[in-house]
Amino acid sequence: MTKEEALQLLQKHNQEHVLAYFDSLTEEEQKELLTQIKAVDWDVIESAKSEEENKRGEIAPLGAVEIKEIEARREEFVEEGLKYIREGKVGAILLAGGMGTRLGFDQPKGTYPIGETRDLSIFECLINNLLEVTDMAEAYVPLYIMTSEKNHEATVKFFEDKNYFGYPESDVHFFIQDMAPAVDYNGKLLLEEKGRLATSPNGNGGWFTSLHKSGLLDDVHNRGVEWLNIFAVDNVLQRIADPAFIGATVLSGKESGSKVVRKAAPEERVGVLCSEDGRPSIVEYYEMSDEMANLRDDEGELMYRFGVILNYLFRVDRLEDIMANHMHVHVVEKKIPFINEKGELVKPEEPNGYKFETLILDMINMMESNLPYEVVREKEFAPVKNLHGTDSVDSARELLKANGVEL
Ligand code: UTP
Repeated sequence: MTKEEALQLLQKHNQEHVLAYFDSLTEEEQKELLTQIKAVDWDVIESAKSEEENKRGEIAPLGAVEIKEIEARREEFVEEGLKYIREGKVGAILLAGGMGTRLGFDQPKGTYPIGETRDLSIFECLINNLLEVTDMAEAYVPLYIMTSEKNHEATVKFFEDKNYFGYPESDVHFFIQDMAPAVDYNGKLLLEEKGRLATSPNGNGGWFTSLHKSGLLDDVHNRGVEWLNIFAVDNVLQRIADPAFIGATVLSGKESGSKVVRKAAPEERVGVLCSEDGRPSIVEYYEMSDEMANLRDDEGELMYRFGVILNYLFRVDRLEDIMANHMHVHVVEKKIPFINEKGELVKPEEPNGYKFETLILDMINMMESNLPYEVVREKEFAPVKNLHGTDSVDSARELLKANGVEL
């Protein structure tokens, strides 16, 4: 794209301020800025101007396969799950493209040293958990790791330096997720440098499209992978490619599965699995009225009692069916460093604009069916979002120790 073409495009969208410093840039910087401008998804930017639409359908509770039933059928589930793993039908996707801003750690979150007396990172915890399964199955599960432009190099280098923590290198693949530009409250694109649009990873909902764009979907096909287990980087107790979860989901005949935990209290801030107009769906905690959150059944149990923990199973063929579907864009207010009219870098103390994200939880509603699968919170859910307090390094360390992990 030439400068003139960029200018025309920008004028059409009232964004020509982006070229304010163009003539002072080096040739290389000019080229990079033009590439960025060409890649802007204008539909997404426009969504900041309209009020975020969120018309929900008819919401109803969705039953889960609960711990008691899982225990009674564990052997059957595990056997089925192991069969799928041994036949090479299961792959795993580690979502590690987030910025981890709440943790305030300037390296990829997975490299965070969670060990106290020994060298143990979040990534190593996760690979150890996966190795427990692959040792049992005596077969490896291909692991696809999604990074972002911001943390890709550091992530790959960390795995290389640590010899993939004993996992076979040939079964680990990395792919980079897309970035989305950020805008100020007037919908104007922000520059983070004179020759660079302010961008951030576009949320965890684009993982399948990014996997496809990277060419790795071919690897999924070539290996005959039929199910993908997607999980977040920050839950150090995460069970990956859990045979019982795989077996239960496959045997249920559903197209997808979600690990869930019983809500600790009605007001707990987790997304809850439900049915919406007869399809599976997730209602975020802030979308729930008090009345809805407190509804109880005849046995006194919360009607909406199962919270998601970002560990899902999806059938690959169904993911391909929905790949072209439009995903809901979430507009998030953030503090975005930017270059002002004087050409100075400003690091705002308060939110000053919007970022755009699609979320994996919206994929659940694109599936015809989903199996909520209950797990024991204390054994499988130790998210690291903050340094201290709730969902923190401190709470995750306690939970790791309670589960016999030496720190
Ligand atoms: P979070 O919602 O906790 O976001 O991500 P985050 O960016 O990691 O952390 P904060 O909000 O800035 O503190 C949940 C999971 O989704 C991944 C994260 O890496 C994490 O595993 N994720 C999130 C992505 O892979 N890409 C994204 O763009 C956002």
